[in-house]
Amino acid sequence: MPDATADRRTDPRQPNIARVYDHILGGSLHNAHDRTFAADLAAAFPALTGIIRAQRCFQRRAVEWMLGNGVDQFIDLGSGLPTADHVHHVAGDARVVYVDMDSETVEDAGMILHSVPDAAAIRADIQQPGEILAHTETRRLIDTGRPVGILAIGILDFLPPPRTAIAPLTGLRNAFERDVYVAATLLTDQPPLDPDQLGLAAALLLRAIATPITARPPGTLRAWLGESGFQEAEYGSIPERQEEPLPAAETFIGRGGAIPPG
Ligand SMILES: C[S@@+](CC[C@H](N)C(=O)[O-])C[C@H]1O[C@@H](n2cnc3c(N)ncnc32)[C@H](O)[C@@H]1O
Repeated sequence: MPDATADRRTDPRQPNIARVYDHILGGSLHNAHDRTFAADLAAAFPALTGIIRAQRCFQRRAVEWMLGNGVDQFIDLGSGLPTADHVHHVAGDARVVYVDMDSETVEDAGMILHSVPDAAAIRADIQQPGEILAHTETRRLIDTGRPVGILAIGILDFLPPPRTAIAPLTGLRNAFERDVYVAATLLTDQPPLDPDQLGLAAALLLRAIATPITARPPGTLRAWLGESGFQEAEYGSIPERQEEPLPAAETFIGRGGAIPPG
């Protein structure tokens, strides 16, 4: 496979987390160093590959569920590269803003999306929801007067301590006048996740992403989102929710209450 990043301005020997995920998810924008790193990661933490793939399946089901509820615009937090069955592939005519803080990832994402008028990639720290909302592309694509789907898949694990991890979701919710739908995942620190293996993977990951990965006790995500005013969707209302369960992670699909108009 040719090296997609062979002539890049940054050191291509440095693995990049978005390209590593792209490789694991069957995309095409990664180089030999990313692939070697993915293999090292899989050796340290064999379950991780399955978790990453299951997260993408969960995202698909969540987007489909939101589309079925009338959502036609999405903001994807910590998106990585928009390849391999990502949001705009599933969301059809809906508008999509992919948000990532890594400039190289956003540049590559922009290239991938250049012929997709209803999707854009923006560079922002998701801990700064105001920056996301103020961005020209967000203003072009997202209408704060309409329902929106916010995705936080495989990203809250990389955010610092509990209270701040959920802040991007509440920050965005408060800016919308209508229902804010949310789908999120969080690694859980219980079997089948092996803490020693996660420790090895966490040390390795710091070569590819600046913030450390953390697994949290089961129930954490539900508690964070519940306390923040998001209501979980009824279990039975989400088609195929029981298929391909996400190993070693908690998932949440629900919505924040609408602020009554006017
Ligand atoms: C694990 S990867 C991709 C996750 C992607 N949502 C998925 O499910 O495949 C996480 C991405 O989040 C980005 N990221 C990490 N912290 C971020 C932050 N605070 N703000 C924006 N992006 C962030 C990284 O650059 C990386 O591309």
